[in-house]
Amino acid sequence: MCGIIGLASNKQAAPLALRGLRNLEYRGYDSAGMASIHEGHLWLRKDVGRIDEVNQKQGLDQLPGNIAIGHTRWATHGGVSQKNAHPHADCGSNIAVVHNGIIENHQELRKKLQDRGHIFISETDTEVIPHLIEQHVKEGGSLEKAVILTSQELKGSFAFIVLSTQEEGKIMAIKRDNPLVIGHDANGTFATSDILSMPQCDRVLFPEDDELVILSAKGITMLDSRGKKIDREMISPGIEQQEYDRGNYQHFMLKEIMEEPQAVRAATIQDKKLFTQLAMDILRARQVVITACGSSRYAALVGRYLFSEVAKKFCEVVMSSEFQYFSDSIDSNTMVLTVSQSGETADVTEGVKRARANNAQVISIINRVGSILSRMSDEVIYLNCGPEIAVAATKSLVSQISVFYMLAYTMVNQFDEAANRLKDVSQELETILSHNNSSLEGLAERFKDSLDFYYIARGINFPVASEAALKLKEISYIHAEGLPAGELKHGTLALIEQGTPVVVICPHDYTFDETMSNAMEAKSRGAFIIGVSDENNELYDHWIQIPKVDNLFYPLVSIVPLHLLAYYLAVKRGKNPDRPRNLAKSVTVK
Ligand code: F6R
Repeated sequence: MCGIIGLASNKQAAPLALRGLRNLEYRGYDSAGMASIHEGHLWLRKDVGRIDEVNQKQGLDQLPGNIAIGHTRWATHGGVSQKNAHPHADCGSNIAVVHNGIIENHQELRKKLQDRGHIFISETDTEVIPHLIEQHVKEGGSLEKAVILTSQELKGSFAFIVLSTQEEGKIMAIKRDNPLVIGHDANGTFATSDILSMPQCDRVLFPEDDELVILSAKGITMLDSRGKKIDREMISPGIEQQEYDRGNYQHFMLKEIMEEPQAVRAATIQDKKLFTQLAMDILRARQVVITACGSSRYAALVGRYLFSEVAKKFCEVVMSSEFQYFSDSIDSNTMVLTVSQSGETADVTEGVKRARANNAQVISIINRVGSILSRMSDEVIYLNCGPEIAVAATKSLVSQISVFYMLAYTMVNQFDEAANRLKDVSQELETILSHNNSSLEGLAERFKDSLDFYYIARGINFPVASEAALKLKEISYIHAEGLPAGELKHGTLALIEQGTPVVVICPHDYTFDETMSNAMEAKSRGAFIIGVSDENNELYDHWIQIPKVDNLFYPLVSIVPLHLLAYYLAVKRGKNPDRPRNLAKSVTVK
């Protein structure tokens, strides 16, 4: 959830680290800080606020020295305060650490260290790390050994980067079950939570758990958990600088919505042989369970309808945070499909661990190449939709849904047909995006002060209602619910008042008639009906027009204008849709 970075360079490292840190801000933005070593002295500055605010207050980029570490925080242990911001230091102010993850045994370690006289300043779990390193160094070890021993004492998942006055030209990094990328570029070497923070890098490597990485301006050395030198091959990072630019768009979210048609096309570029094999595996499996969180789970729900309707294959979708409670039912005849944009979500990786422990086959649909999940899975399907920077998922969702079309139709030997149909749909999405903007902006203006929004749909369109509601609440902070239209009368209808906006997703497909009856029930109680459909209807107080597409393909054309509506509502309310409060893009804690 937090972003960490460390650099060893021949130049002043702080401005470089700050630049990288800005690109990690999507991981958390409660507070930020940096540390460097110069002439045997540890420099450490941190504060509450976004990176640029903290830099303005504290002059992070002024820190002297050629090695630096930095952190952008999404608070877990301890409130948002200057003392809880990273880096954290030891008692002697010689060692500084930035950390991402959770140290589960921090209370026990803190108590032990306090008994040995260590003084703690923050409420964080992280602070045990510099004190443990200090303790091991005191007991006579090298810094390298102290870092390895420290990591061995930690329970939980973590990635941390260390610098110390003891080793002025070096930084050290180590991880367990948390993202960490090592690389080099023209300025030296670096360790980071995400390669996106270093778009100009030449080569990268992904260390395994518990391997110590020692970085200097000259190069990278790696040690295994016993301190023995190991070799790792470096690979090309495979990202383009322009993928990281906002271009002329006001927000990344808008740029990424505009990229949705391209995301659909990119998802069709898949290995037909692999898909055929996977489709057979899915059909053969005694049971199929899809697990994911948030928007990725809504994509999985569309997949569930597709598997059933196209290939007559029943499957379950289990939210990853609840997966463990079903893991007793997972066995070697189970196919577990995971869906994750980041490939880092801790709830998902935890589920995969349990599935693997029970010998299930694991296939993952992922966007981020080289992510933890990709390395835990038997097979990986990549979305190929490019980096998604805004916290809210948009283009990755349509891409995930497209992959489910490809899989479902491959199960009935229609891989090429699916690709062709998706390409046609992507053309329709281009049209939606070029026509709907002013009408959606007008609708957003009208409803920007609403307290509640309801979204209803049936069948394969129901996950679209849930996704649209999630998007609205996370970026505009308006309460929203998405539910199967038939469920409205079982309780939620009590909340409908005069003028309450109810978005009804009712294309002319097999769900139309019954969804319209439910919309009528809401309208009779005073709801303002916003119809998302390919044809207008007198029931609608406002019509969001979508094109006519093949039956079963309406989820893709319905979600795009609803992403845009959520975006405009957030902007009209003066919120930054790219950085919603309390949230982070990669949720690496359980
Ligand atoms: C919603 C959103 C989140 C993510 C969820 C899963 O807009 O972005 O709900 O979908 O945190 O993330 P991934 O797909 O990275 O596992």
